[in-house]
This record gives sequence, structure tokens and C-alpha cells, in this order.
Amino acid sequence: MNKTAKLELDGKQYSLPTLVGTEGEKAIDISALRTQTGYITLDDGYGNTGSCLSNITFIDGERGILRYRGIPIEELAEKATSVETAFLIIYGHLPTRAELRRFSDLLTENQYLHEDMTFHFQGFPSGAHPMAMLSAMINAASCFDEGLMHWQFGARNEFEVYAARLISQVRTIAAFSHRKSRGLPLIYPKKAYKYTANFLHMLFSMPYEDYELKPEVVHALDLIFLLHADHEQNCSTATVRMVGSSQANLFASAAAGVCALWGPLHGGANQAVIEMLQEIHSTGDDGSKFINAAKDKNSGKRLMGFGHRVYKNYDPRAKIIKKACDNLLKVLNHNDPLLEIAKKLEESALHDSYFIERKLYPNVDFYSGIIMRAIGIPVEMFPVIFAIGRMPGWIANYKEIMEDPKGRIYRPRQVYEGPTEKHFVPIEERK
Ligand code: SDX
Repeated sequence: MNKTAKLELDGKQYSLPTLVGTEGEKAIDISALRTQTGYITLDDGYGNTGSCLSNITFIDGERGILRYRGIPIEELAEKATSVETAFLIIYGHLPTRAELRRFSDLLTENQYLHEDMTFHFQGFPSGAHPMAMLSAMINAASCFDEGLMHWQFGARNEFEVYAARLISQVRTIAAFSHRKSRGLPLIYPKKAYKYTANFLHMLFSMPYEDYELKPEVVHALDLIFLLHADHEQNCSTATVRMVGSSQANLFASAAAGVCALWGPLHGGANQAVIEMLQEIHSTGDDGSKFINAAKDKNSGKRLMGFGHRVYKNYDPRAKIIKKACDNLLKVLNHNDPLLEIAKKLEESALHDSYFIERKLYPNVDFYSGIIMRAIGIPVEMFPVIFAIGRMPGWIANYKEIMEDPKGRIYRPRQVYEGPTEKHFVPIEERK
């Protein structure tokens, strides 16, 4: 029997129901608070507010635990592919051979864009940021899809095709955006290639020569996609749920997610980390100057790739990526001075009281850029790689919204602090 929370307000007593999740997370259900008390709650940045019940991902920030549909990220990183993990996240179970075959076939069948979309790419200036192109072109893709425009929100039978189409096309759009931003000819996907290999082919092949697909490189990028696949109600996923709650279509909701992800405090952090490491490297700083600046509120600097709203311990994804970094650089016989700087920064920060007191540890973005650099992915594409990885999580959360029997639109309240009633003043009387 769940406990009730007692609230005393203006001399009255109220009881609010509580609930406990399958992993022991406790919540006070305030759905009836305003009607009962006339009060709303206020929670800056939603740090204490649960927006939904969800079955997809569990994070324990204190213990550094991350599980997709109950399976620890460490096991998936070691044993699964990003496509298998995408199926798990979206449909709630690891696919059988037949299910994986069908899912992979759907990805292959849906990997081409409508050819007229290539004209849209021509419209972007060569320096256009690929995240701007990605968001615009995900929405543009829906304009070429008659069925999607008329897809009845909640029609589950078509959902499978649209989910696969979005996961497949986001990769093609991303590759085309990169090629366009560099003035290179578009390279089309190959039926024979699997998901991540095809992406690298579209990114780096030339009409006269196919990119050499080294298994270690394909595996390292596939691991990056897998580790980014979902992360409960982060800023961009909450955005996808917000937009989906109005019954906007899946592509429109994902395009909104791309915009939320772009910010340097969120998915844009991987690009900001490399720019930070390059700044430290170019100024000959051994990192100590930068660390001091990051502790000084007036410097406008933060140790990018460090800190997290939920993890108050080492981000389990960062641990896995750091190890993958070392492995890949060894295999490629590539040493990156930025990796040494990153390791030194981590070492100093983890022994610095400022970071210790605030429980600031490396997050998923701290080392991921080093892997992408080693692969030769340009830094402005880093948030795009994050978006490709996060697509299954956004789709799974959209599916939960779509299947929610209550289906309420997300519409937070506010506490108004503006002027009280006053009246219109004709322009001749204004001072
Ligand atoms: C992602 O939510 C998710 O799950 C996101 C993500 C996902 O998979 O979707 O995990 C991916 O976005 C990871 C985070 C990437 N962002 C960064 O690396 C940018 C740098 N980090 C921060 O800006 C910050 O840590 C956030 C944005 C990640 C979290 O911010 P919070 O929870 O709002 O914390 P805060 O800004 O209130 O900081 C608390 C204190 C403050 O100091 P005081 O006011 O207490 O003195 O810690 C300080 C902050 O100034 N602080 C930092 C810091 N991060 C927090 N100081 C220096 N460097 C930092 N990186």
C-alpha cells in the first residue's frame, strides 16, 4: 500500500498519493494539487519534477547505473550492436533473429531519401552547421512522405515503418549534410553495408574510391551510437515528448529534439569539449589555467564534458568510451595530444575540492570527441553523431506518448511576476 504525503497549507491538511517505481524511485503525485489547494509547484529546471511514467531507461545517478529496458549498458556495449539496441529500446525486448532480420530489412528499404530532397541541400550555404541542416531536412523528409502526413496519430501498424524510416534516413541526411557542407558529391548508401558501415561509406567514400571500412573503426562508431541511444528524460527527449504530446508527427518531434540537443550544455558539449581541449593545447596550458577558469564563475568557462544533472558519480558511458578511445588510438597507431590533455584534466579535476564537492565527473561527452576525431569526423558533426545515436530513444519515448491512454498535451504552468492590470495609453500620451 503506497504512503500518502501530508501537506498543511493555510490551516488545512491535504493528503497526496505517492508511488514507488520498480527501482525504488519515490514520487508524490501532485496531479490534483491545484484543484485541491489552488497551489502549483515551482521547480527551476525541473530538477525535482517527474514528467511521466516510463519503461525505457533507468539511471541511478548516485551509483552510476544505466540500463536500457533493464539491461546494463556495460553488457550491451560488449555484446550488442547499435541496431539490436535500437530495437530493444523501441520495442522493449531484444529482437529474435526473425525480428532483427525484419528490422534490418526495413532500415535498408528506407535508407534512400526522395531524390528531390537533394535540391534542398543545394539551398544551404557551404558553411551551414550540420545540426541546422539535420533538423530542417528531417522535417523536409516528411513533406515527401504522403503517408506520414496523413498518418493517424497512434496507428501502431504504420509506426514500425516510420520508426525504421527515421532511424535510417537520419543517417543519410547527416552524411549528405556533411558532404554538402564540404562541397563534396553525395555518396548514396549501399545495400550490402550494415547501418554504421553505410554511414561511414556515405561520409567518406568518393565516386572513384570506396572508403576503407576498418572493423575497429566501424565498431567504435557503432559503440558511440549504442551508448547515446537513450537517457531517460534529458532535455532533448523531454522536448520530443513535449512536441509529440500535441500529436505532431514523429519526424516533426524528432526535428525538435535535434534543436534541443544542439545546445553546448547538452549534445553540443562533445563539440565544445574538443574546442576546449584545442584551446588548452594551442595556448600551451597544461590544463591548470583552464581548470582555475572553470572554477571561476566570472570566467564564463566551464569544464565541458564534466558534470551532469543526474550522475553524481562517474557516467558509466564515459568509462566505456575512455577505454574504447585507448583501444582505437592504439589500433590506428594514432596519438592525439588532446587525449593526454583530457586525461590530465580529468586527473586534476577528480582531485580538486571544487569538483569533488559538486560531484562533477566526466560525462558521456568528455571522451567521445576523441574517438570521432580519430575516425576523421569533423568537429561540427559531433552533435549530429549524438543525434543519430539518440534517435531510437526519441522514437521510443514518442511511442510511449502515442500509446498513453490518457494522451494529455504537455502544458506546464507558471508563477506570473509581471505587471498587474493597467490600461492602454494612446501614443500621443506616452512619454
Ligand atoms: C549531456 O541530461 C542528460 O541525460 C544529458 C545527457 C544525455 O545523454 O542526454 O547525459 C548528455 O547533455 C551531458 C552533459 C553535457 N554538458 C556538458 O558537459 C556541459 C558542462 N556541464 C554543465 O554545464 C552542467 O554540469 C550540466 C549542464 C551538465 C548540468 O547542469 P546542472 O545540473 O544544472 O548543474 P548546475 O549548472 O546547477 O551546476 C551545479 C554547480 C554550479 O556551481 P555552484 O553554483 O553550485 O557554485 O556545479 C557547477 C555550477 O557552476 N558546475 C560546473 C560544471 N558543471 C556544473 N562548474 C564547472 N564546470 C562544469 N562543467
